[in-house]
Amino acid sequence: MNIIITGGAGFIGSHVVRLFVNKYPQYKIINLDKLTYAGNLANLKDVEDKPNYKFVKMDICDFEGVYKLMQDEHVDGIIHLAAESHVDRSIKDPFTFAQTNVMGTLSMLQAAKLYWESLPEKWEGKRFYHISTDEVYGALEMTHPEGIKPPFTTKASSGEHHLAYGEKFFTEDLKYQPHSPYSAAKASSDHFVRAFHDTYGMPTIVTNCSNNYGPYQFPEKLIPLFINNIRHRKPLPVYGKGENVRDWLYVEDHARAIDLIFHKGKIAETYNIGGFNEWKNIDIIKVVINTVDRLLGRPEGQDMDLITYVTDRAGHDMRYAIDSSKLQRELGWEPSLQFEEGIEKTVRWYLDNQEWMDNVTSGDYLKYYEDMYAGR
Ligand code: NAD
Ligand code: DAU
Repeated sequence: MNIIITGGAGFIGSHVVRLFVNKYPQYKIINLDKLTYAGNLANLKDVEDKPNYKFVKMDICDFEGVYKLMQDEHVDGIIHLAAESHVDRSIKDPFTFAQTNVMGTLSMLQAAKLYWESLPEKWEGKRFYHISTDEVYGALEMTHPEGIKPPFTTKASSGEHHLAYGEKFFTEDLKYQPHSPYSAAKASSDHFVRAFHDTYGMPTIVTNCSNNYGPYQFPEKLIPLFINNIRHRKPLPVYGKGENVRDWLYVEDHARAIDLIFHKGKIAETYNIGGFNEWKNIDIIKVVINTVDRLLGRPEGQDMDLITYVTDRAGHDMRYAIDSSKLQRELGWEPSLQFEEGIEKTVRWYLDNQEWMDNVTSGDYLKYYEDMYAGR
């Protein structure tokens, strides 16, 4: 297969590219990425010289460019991750989110439609797989702030922390109720993907995943931002009371799910992906502080004084919790890592890769692109 992975230079995309390039030497993997502030080719240093990997700097909104690339590369599969992904940025600049997440997805869909319809075999053997978020479902209520035993058991949730903060979970049949400009734009893109299946018969799949954590995440997101701040003893800005709940999944487990669903998922289906691993922000922050302190040889908990409560995020969703039992039941996927293991690996990675972090926080990697593409 010849597969375009969009957003492959970003956090999750780089893990998906790495998995596909290493696992499928018989495939050609084309990483299509605009290299916004969130795209970083240093995330893919270990695969950049592989013969089955190609990087193309392109904007998904460039319909003609994307269409030509699909023709030139005889593309059979698309795994679409490129998006603006940070909620706080969407609150400041919703237009960019509509442009990239909605119009960019539409441009990918229309280019794939025109190209695949022009082939003798048409949709046969083709796949358009759209990666979305659990945020499209809105927010769940915290009916049990003290935590209750959840109805599900999986490897990841059977660790020490194994509580749910309400009886309800996001299931695939829930109605969409996005609250932020980011999630509204993602919701809209999900609708376009389904419309292309229902109207034209395009073989599409959509998945909605919970919060990912792990190496190569841009340090505007909670976990890498806080690891870096703790290291440098800078304040940790906790929104509101720190009581909001997120369901955390190790990024490589998401990439494994994407691989499985791309190959075995049913056309026109939606699958939710999550770790059954709910945490209040303040609790996860304390785990991160203790882990960073321990790995840096500081007295554990010394840096709790960095916690600084700040004004809450506008429209801050209270609780996300994914029910991924459909994916477990139908395709046999479950997370491979227990949370305690995943967070230890993650903190260790950021502490061991200070150069990566310094390049990203100083913006040096963006200058590298300017030089690299100067004059083209
Ligand atoms: P990210 O911000 O780390 O990376 C996004 C990538 O897309 C970057 O490489 C960027 O350069 C590229 N990109 C942005 N606009 C582009 C454009 N117009 N054309 C081409 N490339 C462009 O994002 P992420 O956290 O890795 O998320 C990837 C996808 O997964 C997104 O669609 C996001 O909505 C979804 N998702 C993320 C999470 C999470 O916890 N991070 C959870 C569920 C779903
Ligand atoms: O649920 C999936 C989503 O998870 C993805 O679709 C998004 O792309 C991804 O960014 C993530 O969204 P969140 O808004 O949940 O992630 P973030 O890391 O920004 O914040 C996690 C929680 O921590 C959230 O409740 C807000 C809070 N927070 C975040 C930051 C950056 C803070 O309290 N302080 C902070 O400085």
